[in-house]
Amino acid sequence: MSHSFAGNSGATIEDLKNQINIVDVVGRVVPLKRAGANYKGVCPFHNEKTPSFVVSEQKQIFTCFGCGASGDAIEFTKRYYNLDFTEAVEKLAKEHGIEIKIGGGGNQEREKYYEVNREAARFFYRAFTEGKNQGYSYMKKRGIEDSILKKFGIGYADDSWDSLYRYFKSKGVDEKVLLELGLISEKNGKYYDKFRNRVIFPIINTSGKVIGFGGRAIGDAMPKYLNSPENRIFQKKNNIYALNLSKQDVGKEGYAILVEGYMDVISLYQHGVRNVGASLGTALTENQARLLKRYTRNVVLSYDADTAGQNAALRGIDVLGAEDLKVKVLHVTDGKDPDEFIKKNGREAFRKLVDGALPMTDYKLNAARKGLNLDTDDGKIDYMKRAADILKSLSPVEADIYIKKLSHELKIAEGAIKLEISGNNNTGIVRQLRRRQEDNEGRKELSGMEATVLKVLMINPCFAEKLIEYDGIIESELGRKIVNLMFEFYGLRGGFEPSDITDSLDPMESQAFTDATDAVIIAGNEEQVFDECIRTWRLNKAVKREQELIDMLALADEETGSDSIKGLTEELMNVQREINSFGGRK
Ligand code: UTP
Ligand code: MN
Repeated sequence: MSHSFAGNSGATIEDLKNQINIVDVVGRVVPLKRAGANYKGVCPFHNEKTPSFVVSEQKQIFTCFGCGASGDAIEFTKRYYNLDFTEAVEKLAKEHGIEIKIGGGGNQEREKYYEVNREAARFFYRAFTEGKNQGYSYMKKRGIEDSILKKFGIGYADDSWDSLYRYFKSKGVDEKVLLELGLISEKNGKYYDKFRNRVIFPIINTSGKVIGFGGRAIGDAMPKYLNSPENRIFQKKNNIYALNLSKQDVGKEGYAILVEGYMDVISLYQHGVRNVGASLGTALTENQARLLKRYTRNVVLSYDADTAGQNAALRGIDVLGAEDLKVKVLHVTDGKDPDEFIKKNGREAFRKLVDGALPMTDYKLNAARKGLNLDTDDGKIDYMKRAADILKSLSPVEADIYIKKLSHELKIAEGAIKLEISGNNNTGIVRQLRRRQEDNEGRKELSGMEATVLKVLMINPCFAEKLIEYDGIIESELGRKIVNLMFEFYGLRGGFEPSDITDSLDPMESQAFTDATDAVIIAGNEEQVFDECIRTWRLNKAVKREQELIDMLALADEETGSDSIKGLTEELMNVQREINSFGGRK
């Protein structure tokens, strides 16, 4: 690690690491059980029921065999508490009573910046509360009560151009600090206040530090909101507005409502919807998702009703989903944003919207359906392609539910939808549906066995039903494409002609397909031939899996844990039994 923690008096990072024990650090928040030389628990970084999270006391590292997370005690602290490197080190040092000096006293530096921001917030607050001012009038006009204004620490930056600057000057605060915090700017050697004639929304992190400000114009001045620039203590992408106030309510309610704007938060809060935060007007980030995850696993996105808001929701779903959060999307039916809605319709009506919020997959499917005519074959096929794309990242159980819904809605066989989903990726359900062998993935021609299976299907399309069970038998890119086409036609019409397939392929593919299937001569009945293909395929698969298991067992060490080793051994025995039942290897 290249961070210079070398202070003259303080401990170094290595000293710190030598004095802490990762088992204590992790064990404080994750229940651990001893397992041989290691400790085991349920991974805090992904959703799991059976523990695959291993902590090695000897090596002082953690590893999750489920999600791949790994690292030392500092890495764990960073990820678990959503801190940056410096903060994680500070936290660990403090908890262990170790004095550490970071790269020339970095933490004292940071403290100074926080303190200046806090002082600025107080300054704005006084201007807002002591005497008449446009900021206060504006917020009253928007219907915000005094108690709420106080709760959020709302302030006012006057239009004098330099009152804040002069205030800090009189206190001896360095211009450099004010410039970096974005409180002032400089022109021709003169300093000016950055926020002028604006309502000030202090942004406070979950540790209660004032990290930045948003300033709303009074009236139509541009920009509507001016925000603190990114600096050493303020990174938009790491914070959620108002979570400092709402985190308890989020925990209590069991979910968080995420909105776009400062005013949405304040308005909902005033109306008694307090489990709310805002993403600070940017696209949601992975770090914001992680931050939320410290308080809940459930999020309701309540973005603006316009297209921009709805597209932001779609992107938000993916970011939150990637962190294993469960997302629903709420659509305001009256007014352009949650603020307007709740002002007009009140808390109960908003609660109803929350209750009716669409689970993320339904929301995505709705969006995918837009502009398609599902009464036509083309519309159905397009929709199914988009839907398949959406469903393939789901867990098998979830996917199954939506496959049934889709099948019902489109009158397409479930098997056809499954095949569409298994088209060309290998995550989530797809991995379960079909373990395609990687070396075969990009193949542009058909193997002998693939050609045989496809030929059987050409002669008798009913075998499509049977193929669903043995989906993985067709592995090449071209083969997958043909099978998907067959299923589309089969699902829509219950059969297909050779020309249906060849017409849908490009000329090269079509030629390859015709050549390969022409070369196959089906001797005996199709059923027999088909079964023989399945047998061979399953045997090959078992032999391949046997080798994989042998390799994995050879690599296993104490980190793997005795449970996994037992599991692998058991599977190996089963696979070998299966191979024997096929009459042994060829
Ligand atoms: P909105 O334009 O929806 O603002 O932007 P709002 O919160 O509803 O505010 P009002 O009701 O018009 O007063 C949503 C968020 O996007 C960011 C702010 O965080 C804002 O709350 N934003 C918007 C900016 O940072 N700058 C802008 O100029 C506009
Ligand atoms: Mn608004």
